[in-house]
This record gives sequence, structure tokens and C-alpha cells, in this order.
Amino acid sequence: MRVLLVCLGNICRSPAAHGVLLHQLAEAGLADRVAVDSAGTGDWHVGRPPDPRMLSAAQQRGYDLSPLRARQVCAADFDEYDYILAMDNSNLADLRSLAGASRAHIALFLSFGDTALREVPDPYYGGDEGFVEVLELVEAGSRGLIARLKQDLPA
Ligand code: 4NP
Repeated sequence: MRVLLVCLGNICRSPAAHGVLLHQLAEAGLADRVAVDSAGTGDWHVGRPPDPRMLSAAQQRGYDLSPLRARQVCAADFDEYDYILAMDNSNLADLRSLAGASRAHIALFLSFGDTALREVPDPYYGGDEGFVEVLELVEAGSRGLIARLKQDLPA
């Protein structure tokens, strides 16, 4: 099973979701069953580590995002991933316009959980509290996604 997490820049939301999902998959004993990556629809930050504000907020909750580096979504992703999950509706529309005949399940990342919000708000131009909110949302979203993946995975 392969999961790609997508936002705009791949330096705030999708790296947070990437780190949190890896952490929860390990806790669930599924680390070797599910491959995770993240990417951005935009290319401005390609090759860079996550935003320092996201790194710091994640570190305080026990997630190490420092090995991650931004990359842009590419055509091969639509063949290689089973789930391609967008942080907001704008990312989702961009993915759908690139998807061609992809058989991937392309959806909002928060569509599997029970969060009040369906989109993960972009924290880039806001204050530090926005980065904490991203982490809370992606923790809930990852729990919902793992419940869904457990249904998909052969025993
Ligand atoms: P992300 O946040 O999509 O969560 O990585 C952003 C990062 C950079 C920009 C916008 C959003 N930017 O405009 O450079």
C-alpha cells in the first residue's frame, strides 16, 4: 500500500502529515505494510527541509521532520500511489487536473476522520498557533486513514 500526502509547498502541512502518519503506522505495527511520501503541487521549495516553524512545532509533539525534503508532485506518482491525499480543496483540484487515467484514490486527507474541518488550513502566512492546529488535525486525520487502510490491507 502506498500513500502520497500533498499540499502546496511541501514544507508545512504535508511534511507534518508525513511524519505523524509514519509515527502512527509504527505504533500500529504497520510500518512495513504502508509506504508514505509527501509532495507539493508547487515547485518553489523543492529540495528544502520543512519550514522551521513546522519543524519546531512537530519536535515539541515528538515528531522529527528533519530528514524530509520538499519535492513536487510528478506524473509517475499517479501510477505509483494507491492513495493521493490533498490537504485542501485547491490541492485536490490541482491533483485531479493532473491525474489523467490514474487508478489512485484521490481525496482530501481529512475525509477519513471525524474532524470538524475537512481541509487542513495553510499555516504559512499565520502565527505559531496555526502550526499546532495543523498537527492536531493531521493526528486525527492519520488515525482515520489508518482505520481505512486496515480495511484495505489483506490480513
Ligand atoms: P504548505 O504551506 O503548502 O503547507 O507547505 C505553504 C508553503 C509555502 C507557500 C504556501 C504554503 N508559499 O507560498 O511559498
